[in-house]
Amino acid sequence: MASAAAPVRTDQAYQKCLAPDCGATYDVGQVLTACPKCGSLLDVLYDWNRTPPPESLRWFEQKWSRRNEPLCRSGVWRFHELLPFATPDKIVTIGEGQTPLHASDGVARYVGMKAGSLFLQYEGMNPSGSFKDNGMTAAFTHARTIGARRAACASTGNTSASLALYCCASKLMQAVIFIGSGKISYGKLSQALDYGALTIQIAGDFDDAMLRVQEVSKQLGIYLVNSVNPFRLEGQKTIMYRVLESLDWQTPDWIVVPGGNLGNSSAFGKAFHELHELGLIDRVPRLAVINAAGANTLDGLYNKHNLRWNCGQIDSRTIARYYAEMESAGRKADTIASAIEINRPVNLTKCLRALDWCDGLVREVTDQQILDAKAQVGANGFGCEPASAASVAGAKLLREEDVIAPSERVVCILTGHQLKDPTATVSYHTTDQDEFNRVLGKRGVSRAAFANRAVKVENDLDEIVRAIQLNS
Ligand code: F0G
Repeated sequence: MASAAAPVRTDQAYQKCLAPDCGATYDVGQVLTACPKCGSLLDVLYDWNRTPPPESLRWFEQKWSRRNEPLCRSGVWRFHELLPFATPDKIVTIGEGQTPLHASDGVARYVGMKAGSLFLQYEGMNPSGSFKDNGMTAAFTHARTIGARRAACASTGNTSASLALYCCASKLMQAVIFIGSGKISYGKLSQALDYGALTIQIAGDFDDAMLRVQEVSKQLGIYLVNSVNPFRLEGQKTIMYRVLESLDWQTPDWIVVPGGNLGNSSAFGKAFHELHELGLIDRVPRLAVINAAGANTLDGLYNKHNLRWNCGQIDSRTIARYYAEMESAGRKADTIASAIEINRPVNLTKCLRALDWCDGLVREVTDQQILDAKAQVGANGFGCEPASAASVAGAKLLREEDVIAPSERVVCILTGHQLKDPTATVSYHTTDQDEFNRVLGKRGVSRAAFANRAVKVENDLDEIVRAIQLNS
């Protein structure tokens, strides 16, 4: 799409290629998802000398008393000074980012942490039920500033639900979403359909949809909101600002996040790196990115092939070889955590940089570990979808390895709401072995240690009373 002469703020924000040996810069009025010169990913950067950020993060507390103003109520835009790429009059907000951080001693016990040490950042409380709204409000705002009429994404379900909602609520654009066949949970698909998105279901998986949406957006001049869009990640930085805010601006020891397309981990790394460079925090937390074992490209490349950021000199031959082997072996991502069922994460290089900035590490967890962790999250008062529980399963694994100490402060990101994927939840708790096998057995899940089984009983008063007395 051509850059329009719209009132995009160019005085202090710009886009920059992340490859150090290229480093080309571009106006924020340009719609780019990769550097036109070298093909690398782009960052949105700021000239902080022109509009200095607040001197202390506590400065943001004054916005709490102005919660009746939409830009102060939004958990993204109350931090506008840390992502100042658009003027306030262009911002599109639907009240995203009002998400809480909870200490959960029940989950802490399960993970093997001391009481008061484990926190859950509950991003399922966003308007469309996932963390995606943090990034969508930012990308959508950018789309509006450049005058876009249509916006597209490929999605495992949550990005599409979020885009569809912003389009529908604002009436500013039409949503065009690409999904793979049979890969999206009904909760998410129902959102996109209800919100009126033009839904293109292609015969393929997420990675196929991702390639196609990039081609189609280019050809038809549609604004692309996948996380290759650097403005998306600016919004997702604010999840970390809210974590800090909830911890009275103290940096936790660990952030544990599921890894799919690796947008979140990339955004979190940038958030902490920037705050540290600006002198607004005195240290960065460690970052743990958790893959599902059935979709473990990052884990494979990072842990088995030792792929690193390496000052931006990433070994692209190792990546190409890995993908070629994956292709020739016909290996396809396959996990109950459908949100992160991704073979080729588009933000791989940015995530490697985030891991470098945050002394990070990568782990994979099985579907069994994910579902058990999810059940524990549920049993302790928070619902989440399977992909989100990878963070808790990952924290438990790192605790077992003694990488995380029992009294360190650990924040697990619950990325999506429980109701996004009721099939996975009901199958875990079911009494019907056939149903269990149909959905979970084929993925190597053999037991449901924390299942809360429904009690089947005849429609008879005495029987019902007896069943309650027996089970309570
Ligand atoms: N958790 C949930 C619930 C997600 O929907 C996603 C990604 C992730 C984790 C992974 O985050 O990509 O930033 O590493 N969902 C995308 C989608 C791919 O299309 O909705 P990531």
